[in-house]
Amino acid sequence: MDESKTSSEARLPGQSAVFLDRDGTLIEDRGHLRDPREVVFFDETVEALRRLQAHARLFIVTNQSGVGKGLVTAEEAARVNAFVVEHLRRHGVLVTAVYCCPHRREDGCDCIKPKPYFLQAAAREYDLDLRRSFVIGDHPSDVDLALGVGAGALYVLTGHGLKHRSEAPPGGVVVPGIREASEWVLACLEMWRQEMRFPGLLHSAAVMLRRGGIVAFPTETVYGLGAMVFDEQAVARVFEAKQRPRFDPLIVHISGIEQLGLLVERVPEAARVLISRFWPGPLTLILPKAAGVPDLVTAGLPTVAVRMPRHPMALALIRQVGLPVAAPSANPFGRTSPTAAHHVRGPLGGRIDLVLDGGACSVGIESTILSLCGDPPVLLRPGGVAVEEIEALVGPVARTPPLSSAPVSAPGMLPRHYAPRTPFQVWDGSETVCAHPGERVGVLAFKKTFGAGPYAARQVLSEDGDLREAAANLFGALRRLDEQGLDRIVAEPVPNVGLGCAINDRLARAAGGTCAKDG
Ligand code: TXA
Ligand code: MG
Repeated sequence: MDESKTSSEARLPGQSAVFLDRDGTLIEDRGHLRDPREVVFFDETVEALRRLQAHARLFIVTNQSGVGKGLVTAEEAARVNAFVVEHLRRHGVLVTAVYCCPHRREDGCDCIKPKPYFLQAAAREYDLDLRRSFVIGDHPSDVDLALGVGAGALYVLTGHGLKHRSEAPPGGVVVPGIREASEWVLACLEMWRQEMRFPGLLHSAAVMLRRGGIVAFPTETVYGLGAMVFDEQAVARVFEAKQRPRFDPLIVHISGIEQLGLLVERVPEAARVLISRFWPGPLTLILPKAAGVPDLVTAGLPTVAVRMPRHPMALALIRQVGLPVAAPSANPFGRTSPTAAHHVRGPLGGRIDLVLDGGACSVGIESTILSLCGDPPVLLRPGGVAVEEIEALVGPVARTPPLSSAPVSAPGMLPRHYAPRTPFQVWDGSETVCAHPGERVGVLAFKKTFGAGPYAARQVLSEDGDLREAAANLFGALRRLDEQGLDRIVAEPVPNVGLGCAINDRLARAAGGTCAKDG
């Protein structure tokens, strides 16, 4: 494979577009809006669209039946739309056009979603390729709209999304909100570019896996190193390539819920609830295993770890293999997890059959691991889904004891993990991080305010202290510091809420339980 070209050089044939629903997708759904002052943008809308517009034209497509019902005038609806467009423009986002259907469903118009009228009009006017385009919305009709024209469907759980979840037709991808929808779109476009440069790439990767090969692939969390779950020899090669001890079981990845039955004996009610909210996504569930799952995969445990990744390339690969794929993170055992393809190629390239490049991982930290084998559920590893969100759905979750005092409570939950080669410590809160004379200290800062002293190197995870951004940058920043031949790296801990728990967990494991002391 020629790796000298960057994927951005490959151009897709037709222009891609993203058709955005308005209420519940870009802004809060507060009923029929009559006045721009009622508009409340979701926090993540602007940034998500900013990233999308670099690769696709943006349109808003909205049903405003309040006009037909006499609840809102056409002028009021137009003013609200104009305000939304103007707000986005002021924040650097260009919406090409707004398509607004003012009719009631019973009027039998041609333009109400899910009828394709507006999308076809846009395709003609702007020379779009609808099969390389996407619809993002919080209503089942948004999914129908996409599927009707062969576009990708992203169903967001904001707005009415949660309420109508069960009515959304299969064929769409369910995501928490606009941010994850945009990440999915960007990952799809990247996957298509890769396929243009290397025609048949995914097919070959799937054939390799079916024939006992081991293939690294992107997920939304970190890159995984996959083998077909029922091929014990291939699974053994994964352990060898990573130099992973065999007592540390693997996570099995599936592309559709129908594959779950091959792996688990039963699906408890709590699992159903969590699956319907968080899959595909960064949540791994530990469930009683089915007899056919090889002991090598589960390290002889009666349970199996399963997750459905939220990455188009991972899902397409597993779908083409036709069977679940067992995959640990694609790094040498105990080392920092890979969040880009080149992180895999360096240390493991010679030992594996293929590395699929899907760009940078959007979540950047591994999945949350939750055991549902007893009551209450037990959090085995904090990760990409915050435990608070899990508890909101299934009630209290037991935590494994904090690192320092814990005996190893699950295989692989080792106190030293994710480790750089450079001595690494977590700052213990004392006033300054002191460097000894001549000592080269690198600082891994959460926010821009930390560690702006006389240090040899510094990486900031998130200028403004955004935990999701920090998680996405964590392993890459750690690697960059690790490559600079420093004497010591000192990391600033992050607030211990939401994704922050997962970040602090990784910092503590990278440090193997040590804290930086003043002086
Ligand atoms: O985000 C992720 O989870 C990534 C991507 C590739 O999906 N995978 C990942 O795998 O982080 P790995 O192997 O680095 O971590 C898997 C963890 C290990 O700590 C292992 O001990 C635990 O999952 N695990 C697997 N099966 C288990 C089981 N049956 N019971 C308890 N822990 C289990
Ligand atoms: Mg909506």
